Amino acid sequence: MDTSRREFLKGTAWMGAVAMAAGCMSRQSAAAGGASGAPMHGFRVAPMKRVRVGFIGVGARGTPAVKRIAQIPGCEVTAISDVNPARLDAVQAWMKERGLPAPKEWSRNGDKDAWKGLCDSDVCDVVYSATPRPLHCPINVYAMAHGKHVLQEVPGAFSLDECWETVEAAEKYRRHCMMLENCTYGEEEMLAFNLIKKGKLGEIVQAEVGYQHDQRSLQYNPRDGVFWRIDRHMKHHGNYYPTHGLVPAGRCLDVNRGDRFEYLVSMETKSASFEAFGQANFPADDWRHNAKMVKGDINTCLLHTAQGKTLSLIHNVCTPRPYDRGNLFMGTKGIYRSYPSLLMAWEEKVGDGGAHKYFDEAKAQKIKEEYRHPFWKVAGEIAKKVGGHGGMDFVMDLRWAYCLQNGLPLDTDVYDLATYSSIVELSERSVNARSSAIDFPDYTRGGWKTAQPFTVDEIDMSKFGFTS
Ligand SMILES: NC(=O)c1ccc[n+]([C@@H]2O[C@H](COP(=O)([O-])OP(=O)(O)OC[C@H]3O[C@@H](n4cnc5c(N)ncnc54)[C@H](O)[C@@H]3O)[C@@H](O)[C@H]2O)c1
Repeated sequence: MDTSRREFLKGTAWMGAVAMAAGCMSRQSAAAGGASGAPMHGFRVAPMKRVRVGFIGVGARGTPAVKRIAQIPGCEVTAISDVNPARLDAVQAWMKERGLPAPKEWSRNGDKDAWKGLCDSDVCDVVYSATPRPLHCPINVYAMAHGKHVLQEVPGAFSLDECWETVEAAEKYRRHCMMLENCTYGEEEMLAFNLIKKGKLGEIVQAEVGYQHDQRSLQYNPRDGVFWRIDRHMKHHGNYYPTHGLVPAGRCLDVNRGDRFEYLVSMETKSASFEAFGQANFPADDWRHNAKMVKGDINTCLLHTAQGKTLSLIHNVCTPRPYDRGNLFMGTKGIYRSYPSLLMAWEEKVGDGGAHKYFDEAKAQKIKEEYRHPFWKVAGEIAKKVGGHGGMDFVMDLRWAYCLQNGLPLDTDVYDLATYSSIVELSERSVNARSSAIDFPDYTRGGWKTAQPFTVDEIDMSKFGFTS
């Protein structure tokens, strides 16, 4: 066994690193399945022992991702693009300090389209995009058209047209396009998934999830002075950031793998909290003092699936309150939730009263140990040291790297990216129509009926991009 492999398995390489690193519904061609390529469910490519990754956007999300991926055996950061030269400098300095080869650069001169050069080049196989949201779809399509697999930050696209464009590009160019929904890999989301797949909650009938994160200060004070987050809030109704609670829940409900989202209704409160914050925190001559939002404080969607399950989805980034993703699942045998703390209860047999009270903390912790998802069993310790939202970012990166290196399908595909990202437009349409029901497009064109349900998979550390 070579040294890098031994160190990786022991986790010592990571510890050192941690110490140092601080459409529209009627889209005819698609609906007919005619103009596009073959379906992408289960899509896989030949094993890529060496995964060369090019980053577009090395800001708050992209830079930590560079640091994680540069340390995954078999992965190399070979290209970076950012219009902010300071960000490029910081990544280059970090690579140099660790004796890693300098990635080739694009966009240093501030040219907003220079990222295309990275996609045109042959220095990388995978594009990892952590750019502001309006760039997501253009990057998806252009990168795939130029032979790259795409890993895209959330949401993966911003309108139904963009979702269809992304789906059609993946099908046409036969490339992976996966949304980087890191919460899918959260320790407690994966615990819920494992418990549900093991049948502990019975058949799931309802999930209650969301994204509640007080971002008033962040949205009013962006690091680069570019207001792309609050810009959306000021101009549109609806849930423009739906995926953190939703994708893990969708996997628990086998969405696009035996079930699908059929329609949603969406309702919104008035807007009050951003305005109050702006008036209290900025002087009268600052635009933020009098800023007015279109989106209300709290958007709530109710989603109905083809198999008769419902899911409630909340988006709230502006009322003062603790962070919360909900993560609540109710089934025929019991309940699971992980906010505000880990709570679960289930019956051993129907009607035995076992779920009338949540299990006490000691029992919940014991169940957590017993049903820890296999990814967290093998990588949890390292993931917590490397970090990134408590380790889930690292588990996510480790998993797609493992799938690419071993020629496996990725955990979520382009249909998932499109389905979940659709909420942005569907919720806005519903709010604008007094909460009328709006249908989801079926990006799989019926493929969801035969696609295999999600399974509890493994990561075999000995098959990790090692050359010896
Ligand atoms: N998964 C998560 O937990 C999570 C958390 C925060 C943000 N996000 C998502 O990540 C993405 C990036 O967010 P962030 O917080 O890192 O933002 P950021 O503003 O810190 O970083 C974006 C970077 O993209 C660069 N950029 C902008 N336009 C560019 C262009 N034309 N070409 C090349 N580079 C360009 C900027 O200079 C900046 O460095 C967003 O889509 C956001 O929704 C995800």
